[in-house]
Formats: sequence, C-alpha cells, structure tokens
Amino acid sequence: MKAIILYDSKTSSGSTEAVIDSIGLSLAESGFYVEKAKCTPFADYRFVRDFDLVVLGAPVYYFVVASQLLGAFIHGNLKKNLRRKKVALFLLCGSSEPVAALLYLPQLKMHLMRNKILAEKIFGPAALSDGTVDSFVEDMLLEYNKGPKSRALSAKWTEEAKEWFDSMPAFMQGKFKTMAEEYAEEMGYTEITLDVLEEARDNLGGT
Ligand SMILES: Cc1cc2nc3c(=O)[nH]c(=O)nc-3n(C[C@H](O)[C@H](O)[C@H](O)COP(=O)(O)O)c2cc1C
Repeated sequence: MKAIILYDSKTSSGSTEAVIDSIGLSLAESGFYVEKAKCTPFADYRFVRDFDLVVLGAPVYYFVVASQLLGAFIHGNLKKNLRRKKVALFLLCGSSEPVAALLYLPQLKMHLMRNKILAEKIFGPAALSDGTVDSFVEDMLLEYNKGPKSRALSAKWTEEAKEWFDSMPAFMQGKFKTMAEEYAEEMGYTEITLDVLEEARDNLGGT
C-alpha cells in the first residue's frame, strides 16, 4: 500500500511539516509506504496515480488555503490525476472548527467533488499534542480498510438508470454493468442513478 501526502506551506519546518511527519509516521506504522511532496501549481502530477491513498493538506493564510496546493488544482493536472483516488484532507488554521469548515475546507473540497473523501480534519495549534492527528489517521484507515469488498456490489439500480441501461445495445451491456457496479462500489454509493452513471463514464472514460 502506498500513500502520498501532498501539501503546501510558506514555512519550512513549521506546523504543517510537523503534522505531515506525524501523519506519515502513523501511516508507515500501519504498513503504508509513505512519501510527501510539496505542491507547485505547474508540476506534473501523473506520479500520483501510483499511490493508493492521497492525503492533501495545507495551512490557511489570510483566509485562503495555501496557494500552491490550490494552484495545483486550478492550473496543474492534479485534479485529473486524482481521478478514482481515495483521498483524505486536512487544514491547519487558527480559526475555530465551524468557521474553518464553512470558509476554508470548501476551497479544497470544491476540487474533489468526484473523489471518495475518507476523512477530513481541521487542525488547530495543539494538533500534535491533543491526539487529533492520531484520530485523523484512524478515521482515514477505518474508511480505507472498509474497501470495496464489504460493500460488494450492493448498490441498487434506480428505475431510471435501469431503463437507460436497457436501452443500450446488448453487446455493450455486460461490460458496462460490471464497470458501473464496480465504480459505485468503489465510491461507496448505495444507489446507481443516472448521475452516478454519468460520473462513472466521465471518471473512467478519458477526458
Ligand atoms: C501570515 C499568516 C496568516 C494567517 N492567516 C490565517 C487566517 O486567515 N485564518 C486562520 O484561521 N488562520 C490563519 N493563520 C494561522 C495559520 O494557518 C496556522 O498558524 C498554521 O498552522 C500555519 O502553518 P505553517 O506553520 O505551516 O506556516 C495565519 C498565519 C500566518 C502566519
């Protein structure tokens, strides 16, 4: 199992680096091979595809999530290379959790609408001493280890999705059914709707 922590911070050896090292250590103790990479907007993020788990995190400066990480989503190919990846998110900031959940987390989550987010956490100044880093890693691993098998092919097709499926040429149906059910399973969807089918096509299809 391979995990990568993608991050940004203006401070070298600051609180973000310390939290990342702690997350990395916990993941390594749980059997992951762990790497970390500081983001730049125009880097080539194809290497992310090699990892099973992607942890994304950054501090907030002047009400904005550190800009290199956001830049990698906006200007770079990070979003494309995160397709179908299981991700976990964290932020560091001085604001209270409700404020940060309202103002800052969405700045990251808006780029991850189609990812399965295993866990998300807002760390305050005491993150390293109050156990929140450990509980973040525990939450993420709990979801990660649920894996596809435990939800195996349990998603139900809605009537609308079934009708659309029945209208497909018969020779395509077998392959498509497997693909749609595996996608729903992987994403943790309990229902296969038209939206899920469209999303599966976009995510698995290419562009
Ligand atoms: C210049 C500066 C601006 C900051 N702006 C905010 C802010 O707008 N909102 C907030 O909640 N925290 C803010 N903080 C707090 C940081 O997000 C927090 O201290 C974080 O842990 C810093 O990470 P670092 O040590 O990796 O730089 C700011 C901190 C600094 C130094």
